[in-house]
This record gives sequence, C-alpha cells and structure tokens, in this order.
Amino acid sequence: MTITATQAAGPVDVTVNETVNETVHLLPQTRQLRALHTVIRDRHADLGRFVTTSGRIIRQLIETALDLLPYEPVDVQTPVGETYHGLRPAKPICGVPVVRAGESMEHELRAVSPGVRIGKILIQRDKVTKLPRLYYSALPADIDRHSVLLLDPMLATGGTALAAVEVLLDHGVAEDDIVFVALLSAPEGIAAVHARHPNLRIVTSAIEERLNENAYMIPGIGDFGDRYFGTDVPR
Ligand code: PRP
Ligand code: URA
Repeated sequence: MTITATQAAGPVDVTVNETVNETVHLLPQTRQLRALHTVIRDRHADLGRFVTTSGRIIRQLIETALDLLPYEPVDVQTPVGETYHGLRPAKPICGVPVVRAGESMEHELRAVSPGVRIGKILIQRDKVTKLPRLYYSALPADIDRHSVLLLDPMLATGGTALAAVEVLLDHGVAEDDIVFVALLSAPEGIAAVHARHPNLRIVTSAIEERLNENAYMIPGIGDFGDRYFGTDVPR
C-alpha cells in the first residue's frame, strides 16, 4: 500500500489505524500521542520537556516493537497454586542504538527490559552531503541468535537505517529478526528501506509529509540529536 499523508497533520478526533501495512507499524494516533508530539515539535520546548516527552513516546514505540518479536509458551504457578499459561520471548533481545540520537532510546528499552544486551553502531550523516558514514560498531559476538531492536529516532532519507541494517546483516542477523524503531519517519526513508529490504519491520509514531531540500523532515522536529542532548544552543 502507498504511504501518503502525515498523520501528524490529520484531524484530532480520528484514531488512525495503527498498522499502515504489514511491515510499517504506526502507533495509534491517539489524542494523547498527538499532545506529546505537540510538545516536542514546538521549537520553544525546553530541554527538560523535550527529553521527558520524547521518552514517553519512545516508551510506547519500544512496547510496540517488543510485541512484534517471537514468543513461546511458558507455564508459571500463581501464588494461589494455579497454573498460568503464559508467554516469554523466544529469543534473547539485543537493542542496537545508532549513536548518537539512538541512545535516547536505549534508556527506555532498558527501563522495560533490564536484561537486554546492547550493541552500538556509530553512524553520522555528513553535514553537507547528508550521506551516512559508519565510524564504529560494537555488537555482541552472538548477535545472530538475538531478536534485534535497531533504535534510531529519525528515519529521513533512510541512508543511516540502510547502513545500520547492513552492519547487522554482516554480523549474521537475519532480516526477519530486526525491528527498526523510529520516532519520526519520512515516506522517502520508508521507501528507501523497503526498496532494499521489503520485509524489514518498522515501528514509528509518525509518518511525516516529506523531506525538505536539506533532507530534514517536515513538519518534523528539527535535529533530534541536537535537541535531545542540548547541543543546539547558539554561541
Ligand atoms: C540523524 C538521525 C539519524 C539520521 C537520519 O543523525 O539521528 O541517525 O540523521 O537521517 P537519514 O535517514 O537521512 O540517514 P545524525 O547523523 O544527524 O547524527 P546525530 O545522531 O548525532 O544527531
Ligand atoms: N535527522 C534529524 O535529526 N531530523 C531530521 O528531520 C532528519 C534527520
């Protein structure tokens, strides 16, 4: 299906279906989520509010992504001596934030799942060409046995996401075992990722209208990393 509109610009009283297609999982566009987006998209949001509010959205993204992973049956005994037929993750989970902005998501993953392993991939977009450059990666040696949550709040041109996915595939991770988690996504970025990896799952809280001439999303949020870490202050 074609991904079109920006849900961020849609009417407030409409809850958009959470699944845009089988591979793009858009969070339900509730009024509360829209209110959280309103805080972080405001250019005047101060650092504290930006961090706290984006964290609340990221938490929802992480919970949704965890639900896409495989689970297996497990029975537990309840305190009243009965059996509860439950589920547990079928594979160990590894979170891989793309440094720097992706580290904003690591904390939220650890908060809900303290036992996860964490790998790191450092990729930066060139300030002029906007092309991604891979500087460094540190991943668990057995990452190919894990379900991997690839964490980057911004999916713009898709260049960074594609470079990060290549690193994971080079380490033996199966495409089916990767869920890419992004706070904002551009249609161009989703299309670029799916042109090369049609089945790669993406969880996002907003699909933007498009990219501007500087490869920033619009309506967008500006430079997420600068805003989250407070490095956007003029001298
Ligand atoms: C931003 C963002 C993504 C990337 C997305 O990172 O966090 O990693 O751009 O853009 P793309 O889809 O066009 O590749 P940036 O390189 O600005 O570094 P930062 O994490 O230090 O902000
Ligand atoms: N990176 C960001 O931080 N914001 C964008 O809009 C695009 C890339």
